[in-house]
Amino acid sequence: MTHSADASSLSDPAALELSVSVVRKRAPGLVPEVALVLGSGLGSLADSFEDPVVIDFGDLPGLPVSTVIGHRGRLVLGRFEGRVCVAMQGRVHLYEGHDPSTVAFGVRLMRRLGAHTMVVTNAAGGVRADLRPGDLMLITDQLNMTARTPLLGPNDDQLGPRFPDMGHAYDPALAELARKAATRLGLTLPEGVYAGVLGPQYETPAEVRMLRSLGGDAVGMSTVLEVIAARHVGLRVVGLSCITNAAAGLSDEALDHADVERVARRAHASFEALVRAIVAALPGPVDGGAQ
Ligand code: HPA
Repeated sequence: MTHSADASSLSDPAALELSVSVVRKRAPGLVPEVALVLGSGLGSLADSFEDPVVIDFGDLPGLPVSTVIGHRGRLVLGRFEGRVCVAMQGRVHLYEGHDPSTVAFGVRLMRRLGAHTMVVTNAAGGVRADLRPGDLMLITDQLNMTARTPLLGPNDDQLGPRFPDMGHAYDPALAELARKAATRLGLTLPEGVYAGVLGPQYETPAEVRMLRSLGGDAVGMSTVLEVIAARHVGLRVVGLSCITNAAAGLSDEALDHADVERVARRAHASFEALVRAIVAALPGPVDGGAQ
């Protein structure tokens, strides 16, 4: 945690600008259109980038080194499906002890580098009974169960509005594009609401029943703050969960991070095919449409 962002400031603008200059120096002329956040067991997607430039989080002021097995903690820039993309291979979690602005930092950085669209991915437990390990789920909305937000404190008007709208947190047009991509690939793509919890302990069966009664279909320990930060800075968002397990109480098996990673890796072929098809079909920047 050499370069943790200053917890007292919303955006740590100095760290953001420093990180932008590190990336511009290491990847001159590469202006990403699309940002990807790659969750547990899903990071190898960025290994398919052409002519990749790889930057360790530790070299980017504002981003801490990942402490989670299966999260490599690198920013990768390169061409993917003909578009310049920037991916977080691994992410920052609240449960590692980081403050919400540090969790949001990578999203703000990728926007500042030029991205207009974010593909956010995660490993998640299936709260709805029909969601099976290995399924990919299109995220249609989220429940922020962390009681945290990266927007607390004075607003940085340079980044976005004080009160960002979350009515279309996950962009309906991009969701439609993802559905069509799945159909073309012959993939079933169930849809649902992602409930983001603090972790790091998995849920109790009672908590899973609570999440279900609140409208949650899948549960995980990431994503919701990143999506809040993304909407704040005007990124359009499309989200995919890789269902790695039935959530607590829905199966007799004890939950284990190694199993989560293994299932996510096993789903990699369909996950990569779907993300490729989505990235290839994305529209360009939409004037004013990002807000
Ligand atoms: N709960 C919370 N986070 C998770 C789960 C789960 O069941 N599976 C993968 N990430």
